[in-house]
Amino acid sequence: MSSDSRPPFRIGQGWDTHRIESGRPLILAGIRIPSEFGFAGHSDADVLFHAVTDALLGALALGDIGVHFPDSAPEWKGADSLQFLQHALKLVTDRGYELINVDTSVLLERPKLKDYRPRIRESLAGALNLSTANVSVKFKTGEQVGPVGEGRSCEAQAVVLLSALLQRR
Ligand code: C5P
Ligand code: MG
Repeated sequence: MSSDSRPPFRIGQGWDTHRIESGRPLILAGIRIPSEFGFAGHSDADVLFHAVTDALLGALALGDIGVHFPDSAPEWKGADSLQFLQHALKLVTDRGYELINVDTSVLLERPKLKDYRPRIRESLAGALNLSTANVSVKFKTGEQVGPVGEGRSCEAQAVVLLSALLQRR
């Protein structure tokens, strides 16, 4: 029997929400979307990177983004959320896993995002060292109901699958 006690696969899910505010940038996976309003937040408020970061941390059962990057800490004010994602990705490798695929949803009433899907997917794939074939980005409105539907917030959801790397002998 193998002495390797790591599960062969680990699944993780992440969710994030940000308030919509006029004059703030609307950034999804590092891509700036032209819009008069954007997302409020302590960092750059990249709701999609935040959800994927939490999904990676969740797959490893290593807490959440706030444990690793407290929003009370001045060094993270206006931070580029790519560094949060890269931190989580390094933990994946450190724990002996590789990322297989990512599936995400962005819930936003407007603007329409579908024309930006290729750029957002490419950016997310690049940040995660994945082929775009293994990166899914879906968009949904809130059907004019609730905080998303009333245009008061944006939500992002992410699911990731990790696979154990072969143990070096
Ligand atoms: O929410 P609903 O099902 O009506 O969305 C229809 C389609 O509109 C989605 O499949 C998605 O591709 C697109 N969409 C978009 N930008 C949004 C919300 C939805 O491009 N902010
Ligand atoms: Mg966030």
